[in-house]
Amino acid sequence: MRGSKPIQLGVLASGNGSNFEALVQAIADGKLRAEIPVLIYNNPGAAVAARAQRWGIPAVLLNHRNYHSREAFDFDIAQTLRQSGVEWVVMAGWMRRVTQVLIDHFGDQMLNIHPSLLPSFPGLHAIEQALAAGVKITGCTVHIVRLKVDSGPIIIQAAVRVLPDDTAESLHQRVQVQEHEILPRAIDLAVRRQAQLTADNSPRS
Ligand code: GAR
Repeated sequence: MRGSKPIQLGVLASGNGSNFEALVQAIADGKLRAEIPVLIYNNPGAAVAARAQRWGIPAVLLNHRNYHSREAFDFDIAQTLRQSGVEWVVMAGWMRRVTQVLIDHFGDQMLNIHPSLLPSFPGLHAIEQALAAGVKITGCTVHIVRLKVDSGPIIIQAAVRVLPDDTAESLHQRVQVQEHEILPRAIDLAVRRQAQLTADNSPRS
């Protein structure tokens, strides 16, 4: 894929945005061949917006509270992403359930990161769920988005040991170190795989 043009990556984030920043950094370091034409966030005042501003990345607030349905919200998200030329979408700490509207627009080109080794501990509070279950190993997963929350084909996972005195905060911190590592790699891998599929399926002349 060297020499090909950078993929246009749209990022959806709800809060802190450390994964968003890890992506921006990976692009700046030449580890991920991509550009981020737009960040969409849904919570006014979310720290991710300030991170985007520091990097000069356009950030658009779409507040789900202003919409009458999840579908109407997703429709505006899809429009905003398309208007910015987005080809691939990454949910980097996006705390909203997606609808078929968004999936119809982006298909397999929509990825999510989740702080557990899926299929264990989907949904909210994955770190707390892992601690409550008493597992000795947890981690994080990047997967293709499907309608069912935190399901879909897995691209990359990383394992993290749970220590006896871990709190949700200490464990989440170590999981996030791995998240920042695997998210750019998973995007690169997913993009390469899809390019390969397209090449395999194109008629030879
Ligand atoms: C991350 O740990 C991500 O895996 C999780 O939210 C955090 C966002 O952190 N996502 C989910 O739980 C989605 N089900 P960040 O805002 O610092 O990137």
